[in-house]
Amino acid sequence: MSDYQHIRVAPISAALGAVIHGVDCRSDLPSPVIDEIRKAWLEHLVVFFPEQNLEPAEQLAFARRFGVPVKYPMIQGMEEFPEVVEVIKLPHEKHNFGGIWHSDTTYLESPPTGALLLAQELPPVGGDTLFANMYLAYEALSEGMRKILDGLIVVQSSAKSGAAKSREARLSDASVGAAQVLEAEHPVVRIHPETGRKALFVNYGHSIRFKNMTEAESKPLLDYLFVHQIQSEFTCRLQWAVGSMAMWDNRCTQHNPINDYHGFKRVMHRISIN
Ligand code: SIN
Repeated sequence: MSDYQHIRVAPISAALGAVIHGVDCRSDLPSPVIDEIRKAWLEHLVVFFPEQNLEPAEQLAFARRFGVPVKYPMIQGMEEFPEVVEVIKLPHEKHNFGGIWHSDTTYLESPPTGALLLAQELPPVGGDTLFANMYLAYEALSEGMRKILDGLIVVQSSAKSGAAKSREARLSDASVGAAQVLEAEHPVVRIHPETGRKALFVNYGHSIRFKNMTEAESKPLLDYLFVHQIQSEFTCRLQWAVGSMAMWDNRCTQHNPINDYHGFKRVMHRISIN
């Protein structure tokens, strides 16, 4: 028997990810439906809602049922809706926004709990997004390695050399100081506040070194973890359709939008929540 009374939840891989059917995100959904969506989100880490053609105000209203929408640091949001970022790759552009494995803005003291991404315009082929499960990545490590990592703190930066350049440049808001560097320290292994599970919290996009160690000293272990944490057995792949919306849990996942559609346009509307 299904654990859900109000929605249908169809997993897309053994590791994480599920499609939620039977929901109109535009409507004022009753609390029991929202509770079930939250349950599915915590269980599957990233959930997908097909055929939701939401206006920015409607996407924001839906996001508010799960958290407080927050502005993306150093990125200009839509004029009327500053928490909604238009993630656009134009036909002549080679870099895509967030085009590496990362968790969102882990260089903040309080990184967002999650994000909602809605497909507005897509290339004829390509432009999928990969997601990875950081609970599984942690649990798959040896006991010895888990013990070492449990005691470490990682320094996360908005300006990791090599990584930052390819990420947010085109959308950066010069008026708010795009050159500003943000840094924060976080446990390498975080306990998810809602599930109580341990998740690996380093990522290629932002993690630069362990606290009290140099970058050179940290690099071998970080490099090992960057490769370890994105093995296919921890991942799922979302093939978008216009109107599909993803909502991921940033506390226990990473994602990587695949940059395989040069010459075509892709437009997504993105909201972070805390
Ligand atoms: C992001 O990293 O937020 C962008 C994801 C995507 O465009 O699929």
